[in-house]
Amino acid sequence: MIAAVRRWAVVPAAGRGERFGARTPKQYAPLLGRPMLAWTLRALLAERSITAVVVALAPGDRRWSRLPESAEPRVRACTGGARREHSVARALEALSPLARDGDWVLVHDAARPCLRREDLAALLRELGDEPVGGLLAVPVTDTLKRDDGRGGSAGTVAREGLWRAMTPQMFRYGLLKRALALCIERERTVTDEASAIEALGLRPRLVRGRSDNIKITNNEDAALASSILAMAGGKR
Ligand code: CTP
Ligand code: MG
Repeated sequence: MIAAVRRWAVVPAAGRGERFGARTPKQYAPLLGRPMLAWTLRALLAERSITAVVVALAPGDRRWSRLPESAEPRVRACTGGARREHSVARALEALSPLARDGDWVLVHDAARPCLRREDLAALLRELGDEPVGGLLAVPVTDTLKRDDGRGGSAGTVAREGLWRAMTPQMFRYGLLKRALALCIERERTVTDEASAIEALGLRPRLVRGRSDNIKITNNEDAALASSILAMAGGKR
């Protein structure tokens, strides 16, 4: 009998939030009174088909154990690394006694707390039996400018065919592990999993998601995220 394909999730949450620039690390910034990471984990845990979620934490993170979600039976933690891809690679390593190469792994940034249930469901549904995997993404709608390096606009960049990559990004466990290990070995910086997969010559599928699945980078993004969460019902 062939073993069923399982789904795992990895949450990189070991960043320093330098651009966010607050005393509280970005992943613990309060949104409607609850830490960002709690919202992110709730969004993933709402999907019952995910067997376990591994969270990659900064060394010496003292806030984690105070988060109610850290005690959830499907949640475990590991220590992250110097860059995002190292944190993801460590979380994948933590899954190695459990995950099989053909299993799915969803990588979702702690900094995207507004993920909606329907987007997660669309990703799972549309990737179905895909051999490689794919990611949530949104077509670019703004007019794009290229600067001349001196504060002037040197031209307009055609936006046709351009997408904003989001998370979750979902790939086969064995493939993703190999793809990231290769990038790390070659010291090739990758800001998402899809670029590691593309580097192997493979084509991740683009699954259209909601534009309000925003990544919190700068301080002003937090207020926007709070409004999005409030509009979505403020609970999960
Ligand atoms: N991340 C991580 N390990 C790192 C760096 C980043 O797990 N060494 C995580 C962050 O915690 C975040 C996600 O990767 O959830 C996306 O990274 P980003 O938005 O860049 O967050 P930070 O790296 O924390 O922010 P900054 O780049 O402004 O310092
Ligand atoms: Mg960063």
